Parts: sequence; structure tokens; C-alpha cells
Amino acid sequence: MKMKLTPEQQAIYDGEQGAERAKIMKSLVLFGEAFGAEKMVPVTGKYGHLVTSFGLSFLTPVFDLVQELLDAGVVSKQPFSVDPYPLDPNVPASPLERLTWKAIYLKQKPYDKQLKKMGLMNDRAYTCTCYMDEVGNIPEKGDVLSWAESSAVVYANSVLGARCNRNSGIYELFGSILGFVPYYGFLTDEGRKAKWVVEVRTSKKPEAQVLGSAIGMKVMEDVPYVKGLDKWIGTELNGAAKDYLKDFGAATASNGAVGLYHIENLTPEAVELGESLIADDAKVYVIDDAELERVKESYPCIWKNPKAKPKLCFMGCPHMSYRQLQQWTEDIGEALAANGKKKVVIPTVITTSPDVLEVFQKSEEYRKLKSYGVVVSNICPLMYMDNPLCARKPVITNSNKLRTYTSSRYYTDSEILAQITGGDLA
Ligand code: F3S
Repeated sequence: MKMKLTPEQQAIYDGEQGAERAKIMKSLVLFGEAFGAEKMVPVTGKYGHLVTSFGLSFLTPVFDLVQELLDAGVVSKQPFSVDPYPLDPNVPASPLERLTWKAIYLKQKPYDKQLKKMGLMNDRAYTCTCYMDEVGNIPEKGDVLSWAESSAVVYANSVLGARCNRNSGIYELFGSILGFVPYYGFLTDEGRKAKWVVEVRTSKKPEAQVLGSAIGMKVMEDVPYVKGLDKWIGTELNGAAKDYLKDFGAATASNGAVGLYHIENLTPEAVELGESLIADDAKVYVIDDAELERVKESYPCIWKNPKAKPKLCFMGCPHMSYRQLQQWTEDIGEALAANGKKKVVIPTVITTSPDVLEVFQKSEEYRKLKSYGVVVSNICPLMYMDNPLCARKPVITNSNKLRTYTSSRYYTDSEILAQITGGDLA
């Protein structure tokens, strides 16, 4: 072993806290060494977050592993939230599609029980936006985390200033169990330096999901330092800016592999350290209207019939904030009225976290949104699309992550709004 462990870590490695913790420590050491880590550091965030929320029938090794740990009395040191639930009977689906899900997510109930025993924060903690106020898993600046969900990692690093690598599933659980993670990448000051300067020179506010996609595809796993975006989203990290960065970040992380970005004059490290965050040999990527158009036009449509009428619309990947739910309610209401309609003309599902939904359900906007025929759910649309029968359906979305991982087709917010409310697709 090349890594230098503290006496406490070495004792775990040597089996003084049991064979299971020793195996976990060895796995983390090997994992860290593969990335050049020379030491392990304590996880300082209050909560963990797991990516594996789904009881997929074939994930037997995961369920066996978790059971082995539970049987040995090994649980997470920190409570954790987990990615969204895969199932919701309120989401439109045919009887055959529902039957298929039952087979696909056969292990959901027993896995839910395992998660609870392992340290799940509470029964509502199923969401990828665990950092929303209503959910309460909000890391502090400088906190070291053991998370894996790419959209949450990039948000925690960039918007909250926490320190977390893009870990893989199960390894993030290992870090939460032991309370240590290998020290490399985004945990180090050097790893947080920008290798790209992105200059935003658009004539209007760029669509968050397309801008994130363009940057992700260009810089891949590198850190971008984005200039010129504060002109459009301001210099205050308020609710609107955070919502924008949530969707932007998820696109950078899924269309590329970005785990951290800096927005000049806005995100905490960029405000604090400015251009000293930019590496000496950083490359430059200029984004103007034409570049965004080029990127958007490059998305393939993999529907069997590209001219098919959409059968379903998904929004809220990553899960929407309360503010976004209010905004969409207003926008849909106005567009329906303008188009002389009372209800959406394409079945539409908006997803959000169970905690945000619980609060939203008490609002006037929720009543309105329901009256427009929109379903608000807390599932993960990606897991819905994992059903081969659903994957064949012409589904539209404003999520670039969903577009990347499924057969769904991307449209901008205004294009989606026009389609679901019976307006013209300009
Ligand atoms: Fe969240 Fe599922 Fe999208 S985890 S980011 S809703 S793919």
C-alpha cells in the first residue's frame, strides 16, 4: 500500500473494527490510489447522499452487500438522503408498462427497508436535489462529502463550495460508513483550478440546459471558469440563480463529466479567489448565439418516427425547486389562456422532491397545476424511461440529462411550454 494512513485508519484497515470495515477500508484505499491519493481525510459534511435508490431486480450484488453489512452491525456513520424513487402510480402509464415496472423494480420494498436500516434520513429523503431548504441536506462551504450523484456533486462543489469527488455508487456509501474518503481531485486546492475559461457572449440569457451541455461537451471532466454569465443571472446567489445553476450544472455533468465549475462574480470560490482559480495554461472557449444553436441542433432524435406526436412530457430532472414549480404554474396558466385551452394537450409530469411536494401540495398553485392536468410526482424520469416499453414512446423534456441518457427529445423551456399548451412551436 502506497497510501499513508493515520493510526485510526490503519487499525480499521488491519481489522480491529471487524472484517467488513477492513474490507471497506481496503476498497477505499485501492480506489483512492487509482487516482493518486496519498492519504484519507475525514468526511465533515453532516449528511451523506446515495445514488442507488432503485430496487432493480438484477442488482443482487448490491442488496447482498448491504445485507452482509447490516448483519454485521455495520451502518452509515452519517444519515443520508438518496436519489429519487423509481415508481409512482400517479404518473401516466399503460397497464402493461406498470406490470413491466413491477418486474424491473421487484426488489424496491426490501431495498427501502435496507436503506432505512443503513441510515436513510427519513422516508421522504428520496431526491437528487437533497440540497433544497425543504429537504435539509445542505453542505457547508468547505465540507468534505462522500456523494456520487453527478448533478448533486456538481451543485455541492460549485454553488455551495463543498468538496466532493465524482465518486461511484456504493463507494460513496463506503465513505459514509467509515467517515473517511481518499484525498485527491476536487478535495484539493489544485484540483479545483480551472483548465478552461468560458466566455459567454450571447445576446440574451442562455438556456441553462443548453449552455451547460455546450460547456460539458467541450471541457469534459475539466473545471471551467465561466465569464459573462453574471450579466444574465446576476451576482447574487438568490433562488433564481441557484435554480439556473442547478439545471446548468446537471447538463455540464451529464453531457460532459464536469464535477465543479466557477461562475465569475457569483459562485463562492470565484467571488473569493477570482481569476487566481484559473490555471496558467487554461484554454478558452467562446460561446455566442451561433455556438448554442450549433450545439442544440447537434442533438440526435432517436425516436422511431421523428415526426411522431409527443405522448408524454417530463420536466424536473433534476427535481424542481418550489420556486420553479410556482413559475411553471404561472407560465402554463398564462399559455393555456392565450391558446384558449383549459388543460395541457400532452400528458405532462413535473418532478420534485417529496419534501418540496409536501409543501407545494398546500398551495394555491398546486390546485391550479392539477386543474391544468399536470401531474406533480417525485419519481426519477430516467427510471421511468428505463422501462423498455416507455423508451419506445415519443417523450419530450426540457432536461438535457434526460435527453442524454434516454430516448427522450430535448426542447427549450419555451418550446416545451408551447407544445404542452397547444401553442405554435416557433
Ligand atoms: Fe435527478 Fe433522476 Fe434526473 S436522479 S437529475 S431526476 S435522472
